[in-house]
Amino acid sequence: MADEVRQELARLHGVSPDQILIGNGSDELIYLLGWAYLAGGGSVVCADPAYRMNTVIGTIVNARITQVPLRDWHHDLAAMARIEADIAFVVNPHNPTGTLHSRESLVRFIESSRAKLIVVDEAYIDFCDDPEGTTAISLTGSGRVAVLRTFSKAHGMAGLRIGYLLASPEIIRTLRTIRPPFSVGTLAQAAAVASLRDRTHFTEMRDYVCANRTALSELLAAHGFSVVPSQSNFVLAEVPAADRLIEHLRLSGVAVRPGASLGVPGTVRVSVPSHAGLELIAAALTTWAAQIPATADPA
Ligand SMILES: Cc1ncc(COP(=O)(O)O)c(C=O)c1O
Repeated sequence: MADEVRQELARLHGVSPDQILIGNGSDELIYLLGWAYLAGGGSVVCADPAYRMNTVIGTIVNARITQVPLRDWHHDLAAMARIEADIAFVVNPHNPTGTLHSRESLVRFIESSRAKLIVVDEAYIDFCDDPEGTTAISLTGSGRVAVLRTFSKAHGMAGLRIGYLLASPEIIRTLRTIRPPFSVGTLAQAAAVASLRDRTHFTEMRDYVCANRTALSELLAAHGFSVVPSQSNFVLAEVPAADRLIEHLRLSGVAVRPGASLGVPGTVRVSVPSHAGLELIAAALTTWAAQIPATADPA
């Protein structure tokens, strides 16, 4: 299934098409991994906070879930490596923090981890400074590492629902036996192929996001917020009076994600905007700064 997309991806990543499984978004592939490797008394280790679907699938299949608190906003890979598990999920860059681990630290983790299968979710990797030098794709040949990718982020195709898994042919065969046969429509497949072939547009959009990420981080820092260094298409910032700030931004036409809903209270996660969006945020923060001495709760 999805032969043309798989061939295009195989060329891009230097793997064979039988190492690729296309899914209805990478979330479907996370579900398939859960059904295949966690159902019937399995165990999973992931970060705390984790990307939500990692704990959702664990709960659905009744797996034992161990969440390891972040350390300095990063996965605590040394602590995660000590946990015995059927699957270890590492999200790189992480959601909701945007922090990144180098390939060297991933290699060290894989060598020392007690997990049987390590799933590296690279949904946001195209936004990092050195995607080729960071990706874990070259580690998938061992049969112990699988890499998740999606067209929802850097390719801007979230609504079309298409993502993919890179893994050993054996893992791909296992997942194919339990997958719904026609979960990815032909429109999504055609759009994915077109997007893969237009590298110029892809690179321009990625560079635009990365430049605006720098501008957004600087803007937030200039307002005194502590900004987590991001390698993603969003920025997490620690803010005082988070609820009131979020409401102020909302009334100013800016929607941000409350960190409290992502397991990081006292923060906001701001998606990297367009130039016009940056101006809107700048104006909203200026009016916020003007009123904050009167309204901010220092606690
Ligand atoms: C880390 C991570 N993985 C996977 C996904 C799911 O992406 P998809 O749209 O491909 O299902 C998301 C979406 O927010 C995500 O943040």
